[in-house]
Amino acid sequence: MKKDINPKREGFSSSIGVIAAVLGSAVGLGNIWKFPYVTGANGGAAFILVYLLCVALVGLPVMLSEHLIGRHTKSNAVGAFKALEPRRPWFLVGGAGVLSAFLIMAFYTTVAGWVYAYIFKAAGGALISTKPEDTSRVFNSLVSGVGEPLFWQVFVLLVIGTIIMAGVTKGIERVTKLLMPLLFILLLIIDIRALTLPGAGEGLEFLFKPDFSKITVSVVLAALGLAFFKLSVGMGAMITYGSYVGKNENLPKMAVKVALADTLVSLMAGIAIFPAVFALGFTPDQGPKLLFVIIPAVFNSMPFGKVFMVLFFMLTAVAATGAMLSLLEVPIAYLTEQYRWTRRKATILTILGIGLLGSTATLSNSLFANVTVFGRTFFDFFDFTTSNVLLPIGGIFIALFVGWQWGYAKVKRELSNEGHLKNDGLFHVFIFLVRFVVPLAIVLVLLAGLNLIDPIIAFLRDNISF
Ligand code: TRP
Repeated sequence: MKKDINPKREGFSSSIGVIAAVLGSAVGLGNIWKFPYVTGANGGAAFILVYLLCVALVGLPVMLSEHLIGRHTKSNAVGAFKALEPRRPWFLVGGAGVLSAFLIMAFYTTVAGWVYAYIFKAAGGALISTKPEDTSRVFNSLVSGVGEPLFWQVFVLLVIGTIIMAGVTKGIERVTKLLMPLLFILLLIIDIRALTLPGAGEGLEFLFKPDFSKITVSVVLAALGLAFFKLSVGMGAMITYGSYVGKNENLPKMAVKVALADTLVSLMAGIAIFPAVFALGFTPDQGPKLLFVIIPAVFNSMPFGKVFMVLFFMLTAVAATGAMLSLLEVPIAYLTEQYRWTRRKATILTILGIGLLGSTATLSNSLFANVTVFGRTFFDFFDFTTSNVLLPIGGIFIALFVGWQWGYAKVKRELSNEGHLKNDGLFHVFIFLVRFVVPLAIVLVLLAGLNLIDPIIAFLRDNISF
């Protein structure tokens, strides 16, 4: 067996640094762009309740599973499975994760590019209006262009490539630790403005008063997919980050803290957006453009709006960048450790690959507007398939691995830091979740959400006679 464990690996240098990096991975466009638009498209409060259940019962256990695998093996997503189970093809789970990282980055860099562009649009005064028609026009002209959105996507790729080449501790830790608190404070300010808009109440009702008739299987699948995407789980990013975490960290505590803080940021983004949606005469189901048309309108209705707006898009860009670092780190760690590539070579080739794939997503509203894959544009295809298919499937296998394959006693030892933490009760809950709840819930939601249950029943009925 090739040795995957490298004693001289870099690592995060402190507990605060660890939390900041893991939170830096979780908090990103998922909170500020995706959470609001998916909530808006799926009916609001009832969706949020299902989402919270998915985070607690599925997302959290998978996150903890990934951290345990990563810290124990000190290896990348593929190497970790090879180290723990050299005889069976579990490493394919990590391999699928590396692939998912490319697919997510393909559309993530598109949206991050829009955010970077908006910093300059806001500063230049292009976004001065509270009217839906005006803010929509600015957005549409950006995304239906060719050169402009491509330029910003390339810009984004250059930024993250540079940070990643600087290395784990120095690059990732420093950037995220500094700017996360600032984003939080700014969201608080926007929330106060949004809540004091005349007519804000309707938006709050949309967010917090559940209408359970809105829950359908596709709504549940969207909630599950969002939980995976939000917590950065299901593809080995948390295995990779877990591999940089020290032996004394309390992993369950960290996972809970991260999930809580991440959810808080999402809800704050929701409060920034939905009151304004209703107060200013927009509709909640606008899809991916929601953030880009609502937020300028909110800022334009407040004093010093332009300054705050520039700051807002800057901090969103920072959050998106922290999240992208964790996505990029998955193929980079894989290529440098499994193939002994230099960090430089791995970064350059990965960025190039993402750029090529990602340009198809960026051009989904222009050159490739009529090209579809399984009935979706490139952008929507990458977005839907990763969150709603690949990450949940990855989650099933990660949970099954920890629940059934790795070994009960070994998992217990890793979860308790070799017995130093007294968390027996928690271990039992965790093992029950990863053995039964997580895999079953995901399988059911996937089959139902992708409309596969009826065909399966029909198949069984036709082929099995009782
Ligand atoms: N969680 C990030 C966000 O919400 C996106 C992200 C970063 C991610 N790393 C990931 C999603 C790994 C899935 C897997 O913006």
